[in-house]
Amino acid sequence: MLQQVNGHSPDSDAQSGKSHREDLREFLGREAPLHQLDDLTKVNPVTLETVLRCLQARYMADTFYTNAGCTLVALNPFKPVPHLYLPELMREYHAAPQPQKLKPHVFSVGEQTYRNVKSLIEPVNQSIVVSGESGAGKTWTSRCLMKFYAVVAASPTSWESHKIAERIEQRILHSNPVMEAFGNACTLRNNNSSRFGKFIQLQLNRAQQMTGAAVQTYLLEKTRVAYQASNERNFHIFYQICKGASEDERLQWHLPKGAAFSWLPNPERTLEEDCFEVTREAMIHLGINAPTQNNIFKVRKKAMPLTFGRDNPLSQ
Ligand SMILES: Nc1ncnc2c1ncn2[C@@H]1O[C@H](COP(=O)(O)OP(=O)(O)O)[C@@H](O)[C@H]1O
Ligand SMILES: [Mg+2]
Repeated sequence: MLQQVNGHSPDSDAQSGKSHREDLREFLGREAPLHQLDDLTKVNPVTLETVLRCLQARYMADTFYTNAGCTLVALNPFKPVPHLYLPELMREYHAAPQPQKLKPHVFSVGEQTYRNVKSLIEPVNQSIVVSGESGAGKTWTSRCLMKFYAVVAASPTSWESHKIAERIEQRILHSNPVMEAFGNACTLRNNNSSRFGKFIQLQLNRAQQMTGAAVQTYLLEKTRVAYQASNERNFHIFYQICKGASEDERLQWHLPKGAAFSWLPNPERTLEEDCFEVTREAMIHLGINAPTQNNIFKVRKKAMPLTFGRDNPLSQ
């Protein structure tokens, strides 16, 4: 007896399965190269396989952004692609009559959002949600968006407002190294993994000039200070201090050169994120002066017996 499930007979299921396979074969065998499909809504039939094949073909062709309707899919290139992030390209997207007609790019999303704010049509406040698994490129993408806004939302008229805008931009950009030093760590999946979530708010005035920024952080993985999975590391700042402190600071902070600490595993891994100077310079730009910095790093020193554990020769 024929059974109907959800309006489909097994016969029609078999038929649709066959036509689906034919559609799939036709799609994969099409003449136009797959990597030219810049919007996943053009993929037909939409299956996991066809979508992944399309993204794979684009990845192989060094094309890392693909639209999916009004969503942008960003693939992590896992290599530097400097030409994709040049200020000239930012300006090109900013000046384009229809940025959505240009190649898919995070700048296109940034620009469209900026124009929505500029139009003053409700809702004036706009949000960009950057989501993905660890190592997918979320922090990178948010950084790109901040750089984009720092470049495009800065055409103030007077010299004074120009200076104010410039200072805000610099502060926004310098907040990244500081947050990353204290909140990021090397994990199995990402050398610079953010161990917290964040909500970044950029504030514009009526003339669409940047007037302020606020960052709210969530759920910092504090347990990492005292426990790191094997082959992972503690927060970058500890390694930065150990590697970058001056002789004077070492004496002051009781940090002998080359000392090993059980809660600072894998110190031999040299990462570009280990640069103490970058963090210090960014702190200065954020208005955290040298004495305050010293107090912050001294707090780390006081926490050392707890933080750095039994291998610290100076912790007794
Ligand atoms: N668009 C990109 N271009 C070049 N490298 C990238 C890009 N996106 C990510 N990466 C690389 O991948 C690493 C992990 O990305 P990240 O943004 O930290 O991931 P997530 O925040 O999603 O965990 C970065 O440190 C960077 O080296
Ligand atoms: Mg991150």
